[in-house]
Amino acid sequence: MCGIVAYVGERTAYPILIKGLQRLEYRGYDSAGIALINNETKVYKCKGKVRDLENHSKGQDINGSIGMGHTRWATHGEPSDINAHPHVSMNGKFTVIHNGIIENYAHLKKELINRNYTFQSETDTEVLANFIESIYLDKKVDAEMAVRLALTKVIGAYGLVISCSDEKEKIIAARKGSPLVIGVGDNEYFLASDATPIVEYTDKVIYMNDEDVAIITRQSLDLKNIQNDQLTPIIQKVELNIEEIDKGDFEHFMLKEIYEQPNSISDTFRGRISIDKTNLFLGGIADVMPKIVSARRIIIIACGTSWHAGLVGEYLFEEYARIPVEVEYASEFRYRNPVINEDDVLIAISQSGETADTLAAIKMAKESGATILGICNVAGSSIPRETDAGVYTHAGIEIGVASTKAFTSQVTVLTMMALLLGKKRNTISDEMYYRLIDGLTEIPKKINDILSTEEDIKEIAKTYQNATNALYLGRGNLFPVALEGALKLKEISYIHAEGYPAAEMKHGPIALIDENMPVFVIATKDKSYEKIVSNIQEVKAREGKVIAIVTKGDEVIKKLADHVIEVPDTHEALAPLLTIVPLQVISYHIAVMRGCNVDQPRNLAKSVTVE
Ligand code: AGP
Ligand code: GLU
Repeated sequence: MCGIVAYVGERTAYPILIKGLQRLEYRGYDSAGIALINNETKVYKCKGKVRDLENHSKGQDINGSIGMGHTRWATHGEPSDINAHPHVSMNGKFTVIHNGIIENYAHLKKELINRNYTFQSETDTEVLANFIESIYLDKKVDAEMAVRLALTKVIGAYGLVISCSDEKEKIIAARKGSPLVIGVGDNEYFLASDATPIVEYTDKVIYMNDEDVAIITRQSLDLKNIQNDQLTPIIQKVELNIEEIDKGDFEHFMLKEIYEQPNSISDTFRGRISIDKTNLFLGGIADVMPKIVSARRIIIIACGTSWHAGLVGEYLFEEYARIPVEVEYASEFRYRNPVINEDDVLIAISQSGETADTLAAIKMAKESGATILGICNVAGSSIPRETDAGVYTHAGIEIGVASTKAFTSQVTVLTMMALLLGKKRNTISDEMYYRLIDGLTEIPKKINDILSTEEDIKEIAKTYQNATNALYLGRGNLFPVALEGALKLKEISYIHAEGYPAAEMKHGPIALIDENMPVFVIATKDKSYEKIVSNIQEVKAREGKVIAIVTKGDEVIKKLADHVIEVPDTHEALAPLLTIVPLQVISYHIAVMRGCNVDQPRNLAKSVTVE
């Protein structure tokens, strides 16, 4: 949920930290701060964005070649100067930045107060800083030991960078539940929540695991766990280039990522569809394919947009592989006592691979003996490391908080999985198998066709930019598209929007329809087309405004709707991949017209690594 960056080396740390925080700002952006460690530790922090921190630290002493930085998404204590990180312990011994939640902070704080510790902030992080210091001073141990002893008493999730004023040449990093990546340079080390701040300096990285502790100086990296067992760092090469993390000619990352979808979908199926388009290869799940083919049930667990992709997957798996599917919100699933059998297959879908609820659901399900797969977009993230096997979406880094290309890449993977399973279970005809593989390869070009109508879509956005509510309707595998379209609009324009199965309208929501209600209807040609036309007529009969996503050339709905947006014809199984694109584009333009911060919407963060 927040962004962490740190540096130990010979360079001036300040610009590295600031640029790193700018790269991580999509992870959390209500306040920011840095600590520069010299003879004394200088802390600059404030409410607001990284640019506010730059203004705040302008003209100050920003020297130093060891430092840390944090951009926050508040969990304990409102966004404010005093609650911003870094936090310094009461006697000034420890400086801490933290991603995650210390769940037993209240208990620890009470004990510390009884020992005359005082607090400046409302955060759980400051409690940890004082707790570490109390151990350090009481037990007269070194900084690393104090950190490890403290963490054995901590309940919760953390990604931490810690410095000690008595051991200025080092920083200590620790992770449990929140990601931390170490970048390995020449006599210099970098630390960050993900690889984006690191890639321009080195492509050698170490992904820290839960309960890892790293003690880092300019010349050394000592990796151990909180039980003090020595560990061998595994240095990997990160596949990320700097161009991917710039907006290029686009005003926002979100629009850039919408336009990247033809490429990201191509990249997702590249190497996985045979040249002659008669076969599919998903190497990442080949070893467990027999278990998936014989699965009694598939349980899909995810959050947000990834959950919507899972709903599309449900239609695909049941239609083509004839396997019963349940789609679960990970945040609910993990707190129930679900019945999971060892012949079940769980599929965790996550763009970031770090969503705390999804990760926790996986860990809970592992005890059942079921086979657990991941569909993730970030190599080396936590979820792929927890699952038995999986398929990466190859969408490239997604920085806009509103997920777009990750969704279409997730649906692409689910489509390939369903077809491959259907083929192996003999539940799909060869003709349909080849037809859908071929249809999938046509999708990138068809999305380009849709994007060429952006100006027309932008015109429609003007009409609805001041709406206060909106409804999104779809049937069958287009119902999840209605949900996803509604989420896009509400999370970046702050207009209340609701996705609904079109047939359900008459069971209540139709009471909402009047001349002020824009109703987006996904109405491409499929087996329920006549029914959705009737739904449009029901809305029009109550003076609702209808914006219909239709198959190119549709003359029927054009006569009924207030606006139509055409998408190229495709097989109905592939329609979600096309029909979501106009909904992404119109949400983007409405948000821009409303002056919203499209890439960093209020209250949100890109990766929800807290529960
Ligand atoms: C989608 O636009 C949102 N940013 C959010 O719902 C997101 O999909 C959700 O937090 C899940 O994230 P994940 O895919 O990284 O697990
Ligand atoms: N729990 C800490 C706080 O509220 C860290 C939140 C975060 O991960 O940004 O300050």
